[in-house]
Amino acid sequence: MKAIQVCLFLVCGISVVCALNNGLGLTPQMGWNSWNHFGCGINEQLIKDTANAIVSSGLADAGYKYVNMDDCWAYSRDAQNNIQPDPKGFPSGIKALADYVHSLGLKFGLYSDAGTKTCAGRPASLGYETNDANSYASWGVDYLKYDNCYDDGTPPEKRYPVMRDALNATGRSIFFSMCEWGVDYPPAWAPAVGNSWRTTGDISDNWNSMTANLDKNDEGAAAAGPGGWNDPDMLEVGNGGMNFSEYRAHFSLWCLVKAPLLIGCDVTNLSNDTLYILTNPEVIAINQDPLGIQGRKVSNVSGLEVWAGPLSDGAVAVVLFNRSPERAAISASFQDIGVTKSQANVRDLWAHQDLGVFEHEFIATVDPHDVVMVRITPTGQQQQQQPTESEGIIEEEPVDEVYYGDDN
Ligand code: GLA
Repeated sequence: MKAIQVCLFLVCGISVVCALNNGLGLTPQMGWNSWNHFGCGINEQLIKDTANAIVSSGLADAGYKYVNMDDCWAYSRDAQNNIQPDPKGFPSGIKALADYVHSLGLKFGLYSDAGTKTCAGRPASLGYETNDANSYASWGVDYLKYDNCYDDGTPPEKRYPVMRDALNATGRSIFFSMCEWGVDYPPAWAPAVGNSWRTTGDISDNWNSMTANLDKNDEGAAAAGPGGWNDPDMLEVGNGGMNFSEYRAHFSLWCLVKAPLLIGCDVTNLSNDTLYILTNPEVIAINQDPLGIQGRKVSNVSGLEVWAGPLSDGAVAVVLFNRSPERAAISASFQDIGVTKSQANVRDLWAHQDLGVFEHEFIATVDPHDVVMVRITPTGQQQQQQPTESEGIIEEEPVDEVYYGDDN
């Protein structure tokens, strides 16, 4: 809100709309995107099958709504410079596809690029922003991912607002997902331009890539909030390059840092483990909490990390994150994570279990490359007032209760 007002009054004056003002993204977007699994191998049947699977698998009920095509749908421009889809992959046209997705109660997204070509060499939108925004609106598009390849040397701060304004001018609410890879530090300027902005290069389906993106995305955490989100790139859960613990860690942390939850696997062929991770309602609720404050890394001792962030009901969401190769105990001090009371109720969001009352800190044993994720609800006295023994506080022994075995 503040960013919108500053933009309106300082840059544009009150008569011109120059800020993103589409009312979207009040919580991070949830959906699916074709790129991580399918790359350029997309067509209308795949998108229809995907949309059907999002509904039949229960993903839609869990909150995943956007069905987004990435690069490689665009093919040419007609005599009026209107963008045309690849006739082989999309013989029925984009409007028919959007209509189909809408008929299932889902939303439909497309991809373009603020350059002369998309990253895969297809026609892009630089210089054609109004034509393209009008085409998207006439087709019923709900979401645009806007990439940064083949630019003309103009900084993204100048190129991206042109598409924002073209989308605004259509009168249709279209989620604007900026993808300039963090090159010009978007946390400093993107909240007035997009509903989300990539803060990193492309994620790959491996541990080092996932954790590197997580760390880089933490740098601009303060910029995120209802209406605009830092984006450490799409989910790799279910693509096969990481094990169960690593995908659970990936998903838990994406939820804690209020990242977009865009599934990047083949949802027509989901394993039980993948579905279990992607649909945990207690973990998704952290991501979708209306307060919208991005959780942050609060401590790191040799790869044993604590990440935390406040929630709208006064609780604190916490991820104990073991980046080391050994099973280890990780402690979250109430003071470090912003719990101001001396005692708190702790609930394990993967075990779906209340763990009891803890005082001053929560400690759990965490498997290598895994997490323990909890919701900590303050209770009792303010932190500085030390409780006496007669108050009967129970210090839990957490190791057995929160240990996740290999079979989990
Ligand atoms: C860039 C983006 C990716 C994807 C590809 C498509 O690399 O960062 O997310 O959209 O382009 O070509």
